[in-house]
Amino acid sequence: MTESLADGYRLVVGPPPLDDYLRLRRDSGLSPKNAEQGAGAIAGSWSAVHVVDGQDVPVAMGRTIGDGGWYFHIADIATDPGHQRRGLGRVVVEWLVADIRARAPEGAYITLVGDPPGQRLYRSLGFEDVAPSLGMALPLR
Ligand SMILES: CC(C)(COP(=O)(O)OP(=O)(O)OC[C@H]1O[C@@H](n2cnc3c(N)ncnc32)[C@H](O)[C@@H]1OP(=O)(O)O)[C@@H](O)C(=O)NCCC(=O)NCCS
Repeated sequence: MTESLADGYRLVVGPPPLDDYLRLRRDSGLSPKNAEQGAGAIAGSWSAVHVVDGQDVPVAMGRTIGDGGWYFHIADIATDPGHQRRGLGRVVVEWLVADIRARAPEGAYITLVGDPPGQRLYRSLGFEDVAPSLGMALPLR
């Protein structure tokens, strides 16, 4: 289903523990979240996957928020900086897409917000710019 992981790494279906979820977001440079936010993210995801290193420490993760029908949003793609550029992010996104392909009805629509570090990776997996539409967000303060 996915290209194989580099030696010493293992793919684990499901989210990482809450503390690791919060750490991976923070350490990879994504906006930090608190425990209440993280718990909701973990409980409310349609699917999730993470990668552990040889000591079983979570070092990469990603998840899908979805309605189970047709609309799916990939989020929280993050790799620990000490483990980047080894193909872990690619394996995570490939697994999430393959899981949607396997379990969702035909015709699923998958979105994500492609921050600059991941854009080449997402493009290479078939994601396209939504222009002339515009990705829009409303952060509530
Ligand atoms: C985006 C991110 C998740 C990618 O994670 P990653 O595990 O480094 O991803 P990969 O290793 O699969 O691919 C990243 C790059 O490494 C390259 N790479 C993969 N295996 C490699 C290897 N063995 N040796 C050298 N480079 C390699 C890939 O070709 C890719 O290069 P490119 O971006 O120039 O195309 C990671 O950079 C990250 O956490 N960034 C900060 C958080 C963030 O911005 N997340 C995205 C939110 S949308």
